[in-house]
Amino acid sequence: MNNNLNRRTILTAAAAAGLAIAAPAHAKARGKVVLITGGTSGIGKATAKAFAAQGAKVGFCGRREQLGRQVEHEIRKAGGEATYIRADVRKPDEVRAFVDAVAIRYGGLDIAFNNAGIGASGMPHELTLEQWDDVMDTNARGVFLAIKYEIPHMLKAGHGVIICTSSTAAEQARPTGAVYSAGKRAVQGIVKAAAVAYGTKGIRINAILPGTTDTPFVRPPGIPDEAWAKFKAAYGPLNIDGIERMAEPEEIANAVVGLAADGFGYLNGASVVVDGGATAGRKMVMPPGFPN
Ligand SMILES: NC(=O)c1ccc[n+]([C@@H]2O[C@H](COP(=O)([O-])OP(=O)(O)OC[C@H]3O[C@@H](n4cnc5c(N)ncnc54)[C@H](OP(=O)(O)O)[C@@H]3O)[C@@H](O)[C@H]2O)c1
Repeated sequence: MNNNLNRRTILTAAAAAGLAIAAPAHAKARGKVVLITGGTSGIGKATAKAFAAQGAKVGFCGRREQLGRQVEHEIRKAGGEATYIRADVRKPDEVRAFVDAVAIRYGGLDIAFNNAGIGASGMPHELTLEQWDDVMDTNARGVFLAIKYEIPHMLKAGHGVIICTSSTAAEQARPTGAVYSAGKRAVQGIVKAAAVAYGTKGIRINAILPGTTDTPFVRPPGIPDEAWAKFKAAYGPLNIDGIERMAEPEEIANAVVGLAADGFGYLNGASVVVDGGATAGRKMVMPPGFPN
């Protein structure tokens, strides 16, 4: 028997026995049911893969069905367990159906990562009402809806972990970032209220605040790889104190997996900044010839 066949045979037998053998025995999320909003791309996709690699059963949503099916396929091909379900987080019926479907398919809900989000940029007096509503409906109301429909499953089980994606933009604003900062600040508010509402019920809820992360969210569409690599190399030292580079989505994913682990049982209502040090410092660009 060659090695490939041997591995395939073991995988098939393990799948038949309901085991996820891709995960090491010490994996933190082994056997857990994980729900992710916005898993078709970027941070959500990397987090779906990271949890699945730990042996979790992952249900994730997003609106782009082809991408969703592709991510599901990639995870299954790697020996993990994942199901894509189309849902738009702005629509209450779709969020409820998505949450319930994940819980029914995998037998409960242990961890939720409410991550779906969009951006919009414009000076406050130039932002349109459509931009405002779309960002707030997705980034703030979408997180509220997810929590609203996840909590009953977790109350029933007597445990649960929820992590919501805010942003360092909740703490630091740019002139064109009014609606994005407002929406991400709203996420922190929802998280804090939910954390004190359900802390005694075995459910802990936190916000993660990523810094600039290399995803389609920040990368202009169609830019060639070489040009993007140059931009990234210049962006880090100019904008990010500390590590001086953008995050990779896998680095944010690893933080989410870590924070969701049982060992973080006392972390509740927190805003966890994962930005390489960007908000800890303050880049100061001196005029030419001025001594530092
Ligand atoms: N990248 C950064 O620098 C950065 C920094 C801080 C915070 N964040 C936050 O991190 C989260 C993930 O962003 P990303 O960087 O990974 O960007 P991304 O690659 O554009 O991913 C965004 C995800 O959100 C989903 N989404 C957007 N609107 C949705 C809706 N109405 N219903 C369901 N899903 C929706 C998208 O799926 P569909 O399009 O398929 O629906 C996609 O899966 C966002 O909340 C973003 O604000 C990003």
